[in-house]
Amino acid sequence: MDKKKKDVLMWVIGVALLVITVFSVRDTALEMMFDSKKVSSISEIEIPAVPDVKTDRDYGVVSAAEWSSYYPSIYESWEKNSGNVGHGGVRASYVDDDPDIKILYEPFGFSYDYTEAIGHSYTLDDIAETTRPHKLANCLTCKTPDFTAMVNNMGPEAYSIAFDDAYAKVSEPISCYSCHANTPGTIVITHDYMARAMNDEMEAGKVDAASVSCAQCHIEYYFDPETKATLTPYDSLDDFDPDSILAYYNAMGFSDFTNTNTGVGMIKAQHPEFETYYGTGSVHKGTYNCADCHMGVAYDKKGNPYANHLLTSPLDNPELLKTTCSQCHKDLAAMVHSIQAEVTENEKKVSALLVQVNEKLAKAIEEKKLSAETLAKVKQLDRDAQFYWDFVYVENSEGAHNSQLSLNCLNKAQELANEALELLK
Ligand code: HEC
Ligand code: HEC
Ligand code: HEC
Ligand code: HEC
Repeated sequence: MDKKKKDVLMWVIGVALLVITVFSVRDTALEMMFDSKKVSSISEIEIPAVPDVKTDRDYGVVSAAEWSSYYPSIYESWEKNSGNVGHGGVRASYVDDDPDIKILYEPFGFSYDYTEAIGHSYTLDDIAETTRPHKLANCLTCKTPDFTAMVNNMGPEAYSIAFDDAYAKVSEPISCYSCHANTPGTIVITHDYMARAMNDEMEAGKVDAASVSCAQCHIEYYFDPETKATLTPYDSLDDFDPDSILAYYNAMGFSDFTNTNTGVGMIKAQHPEFETYYGTGSVHKGTYNCADCHMGVAYDKKGNPYANHLLTSPLDNPELLKTTCSQCHKDLAAMVHSIQAEVTENEKKVSALLVQVNEKLAKAIEEKKLSAETLAKVKQLDRDAQFYWDFVYVENSEGAHNSQLSLNCLNKAQELANEALELLK
């Protein structure tokens, strides 16, 4: 090679090395900047200032669309809730999967129309489509912030407005106002019954506001028989365990429906995810709140962290599994699925027993073969047993929140059902 060619080659190599160095320094610098923005949990995200946004929507709820240009990443993640249409894209029908409920819930609406919960985007479509009867506006309590604002403007009378009249005035599915009022970033408990039950507990630092924001709906509740207002069967974290809830309903003689076969006034439990996660025996209740496991941190294109508003299973959040759960769990999915399988198997055993109680009790009533005293006792056992079973059956984590509490409840249900069967022999 002559000298000239050598010089050119050296130049080329020199320039190439320089380019590589500049780029790698830039990448490292970017990575360092990105890493410096990494946060280890949702509560470490800096809360941005709230922009001044006015709305002319009825009842004053600023809609998610109206906030979208100020919080584009959060809005985009919130919109993804519409991707949750059921496990594996198919919405399960519990009536088909668990035919026992046709007998146990009869004649209540859930005995013929009861499907798996799906994403928050669908609440208003779902309530319009269900064939379960819904005469009053109180059914909208957990479906739309427009109704929440209606209650906050009008007072509890709003709960007893005719359903169709109220439905005509609402249009926003669960969104920003539900958990933040009109101040995104700050948690505001907008549902009156939850604010009453939990404001003191939050102030005393006993429970995170983030979790209470979910507990506005993911709880056991009932409608006041007189005012029709939505209420919780407890007023603190000290009396929200299944035993106390049952005692509360028994003391007031409350029933959601009367079973067709037996004439027993029954309690229908509803999605007590808050009560299981914060109940006795929960492994992680002191460490993680609902948002830590069901939202988590995401990063925008510039590497800035934001609270992921796609509410989903932790098993479907690879970032969360990688950065947090895998510190201790080698295979979280396998553990969760095995807990759920055990709980489901026990649920099925107990519901079969409850069907036996239902049928034998109906027969005993028809044949008039029990004393008034024994009959009353069996009816109470039937009611209590079904409540403990239902508390687990309708809970959406299927035991994952608190396997110990779920299995304990099923054991209680089984014991009570066996006691009833003993008296029905
Ligand atoms: C205003 C009421 C309300 C609030 C507040 C609320 N949810 Fe929900 N959530 C619902 C309803 C109702 C459904 C079922 C929707 C359907 O099936 O149409 C649901 C569904 C879900 C689902 C999907 C369930 C499934 O099986 O796929 C998840 C996950 C969830 N919510 C988590 C949360 C978390 C976490 C919070 C708090 C950050 C929260 N929700 C706050 C009412 C609420
Ligand atoms: C179901 C309840 C729920 C809904 C609906 C909801 N959020 Fe949030 N949001 C939360 C929770 C929980 C946090 C975490 C707060 C904490 O840990 O203190 C949060 C955090 C935030 C933050 C602060 C963190 C960050 O990333 O900047 C902002 C801003 C925010 N939300 C905006 C919104 C907007 C805008 C909407 C509507 C598109 C919305 N939220 C809908 C529950 C909700
Ligand atoms: C510091 C260690 C540690 C971390 C981090 C951790 N876990 Fe756990 N987790 C445990 C232990 C210990 C148990 C109890 C397991 C047992 O009994 O075998 C457990 C149990 C569980 C259970 C079952 C609860 C029950 O009632 O049976 C679930 C669900 C769970 N973890 C989810 C998570 C999720 C989701 C994350 C990430 C956000 C996480 N864990 C992070 C240590 C951890
Ligand atoms: C330690 C993590 C953890 C915490 C904290 C937690 N959950 Fe869960 N949750 C789970 C797991 C695991 C499942 C089961 C997910 C699955 O089946 O894929 C679950 C399931 C659910 C479901 C059904 C969703 C689905 O995709 O099947 C809802 C709704 C829910 N939780 C609400 C809540 C609420 C409300 C809170 C707070 C009171 C809460 N969770 C706290 C781990 C957690």
